[in-house]
Amino acid sequence: MLIKTAKPLPASEITDPLFFYNRRRMLKGMLATAALASGVAPVAALAAEPRWQGLPAGALSDKTLTPTPAALVKNYTNYYEFTLNKEDATQLAQALPTDPWSLEIAGEVEKPGVYPLEDLLKRQTMEERIYRFRCVEGWAMVVPWVGFPLGNLLKTVQPLSTARFVSFTTILRPEVMPGQRTKSLLDWPYVEALRIDEAMHPLTILAVGMYGDVLPKQNGAPLRLVVPWKYGFKSIKAIIKIELLRNAPVTTWNLSAPNEYGFYANVNPTVQHPRWSQSSERLLGDKLFTPRRATEMYNGYGEQVAALYSGMDLRRFY
Ligand code: MTE
Repeated sequence: MLIKTAKPLPASEITDPLFFYNRRRMLKGMLATAALASGVAPVAALAAEPRWQGLPAGALSDKTLTPTPAALVKNYTNYYEFTLNKEDATQLAQALPTDPWSLEIAGEVEKPGVYPLEDLLKRQTMEERIYRFRCVEGWAMVVPWVGFPLGNLLKTVQPLSTARFVSFTTILRPEVMPGQRTKSLLDWPYVEALRIDEAMHPLTILAVGMYGDVLPKQNGAPLRLVVPWKYGFKSIKAIIKIELLRNAPVTTWNLSAPNEYGFYANVNPTVQHPRWSQSSERLLGDKLFTPRRATEMYNGYGEQVAALYSGMDLRRFY
C-alpha cells in the first residue's frame, strides 16, 4: 500500500488543522504508511522508464537485509560540523533548529525557488528502503531509511537539458555548529555532488526518516541524501540547497584531500585509500574478534548501477 500525496487534501478532509502546520506530525503519518508499503509498487512505477526496465522487482530495497540495531546507527555518527567524535554528535546536533526548514532549488531548472520543506514533502510518496551503507573509513551498517527518490523531486522542478551535475549544500550555522567556526579541517558549508544520471537513478533517495521514525538530527535531519553504492561522505546531511549545474562543482572532501576522496567515491574493493585498504569492512555491532567481511563492488548494488560507469577507468575516476 502506498500513500499518494500528489494532491493536497480538500479542506473538508482535514480533521486536524495541525496536520499541515506540524511537520513532525505530518511525517509520522507518512512514515507509518511507508513502513507498510511493499517494495514492489515503486519498481512497477519506474518500469515506465525504459532505462530502468532491467531492474528486478524489489531491487531497490533488500527486505532480507537485517538492519543494524537503531541505537548503534543513532549514536555512532559522522557530523563534522559538530564534532570529530562519533559519539558526541548525538547530543550536540540537537542544537540545530530544523523546523521551519526551506530548500532552495537553483540553477539549470525551469522552476527554481525557495520551497518550504512541507510543501515539497506533501507531493512525494514515502518509501522504506533498507540499504547497506559503507563509510570510506571502513565501517558499514544496514539502515532502513524512509524517504523518496531524489529523481522524483527533481522532475517536479523540471531540469533543463543543460543540467549535467547536481550539487547539495548543508546549512551554514556556525553559532550552533562549532566545527564551522574554523576552516582548518574542512571548507564550509559541506558540499557534495552527483552526475545528473546518478542523481536520477532510482536507488538515490532523499531521506526524512529511518527505523520508521523521523530522522534524528545527528543523522542529518530534516533532509539528507542517501546514495547506497557510494562511500558515506557523499550522503550529505541537513541539505538546504540543491543546484543543477552545467559543470562539476568543487566538493568538500575532494577539495580537502583530492588524492584520497574522489568525486565519484563508488565503493570499490580494488581501489585502495592511500592510507588504508578498502578490500574489507567492519559491520557496526560485530564483536571485536569477528573477522572483517569482504567489501562488495558498488557496495553490492552493481547489478543496478554498473552501467552508469561502463567504459570508465575506475582507478582514475575513483
Ligand atoms: N554531511 C555533513 N553535512 N557533514 C558530515 O560531516 N559526514 C559524512 C556523511 N554526511 C557528514 C555528512 C560521512 S563521512 C558519513 S560516513 C555519513 O554522513 C555518516 O552518516 P551517519 O552519521 O548518519 O551514519
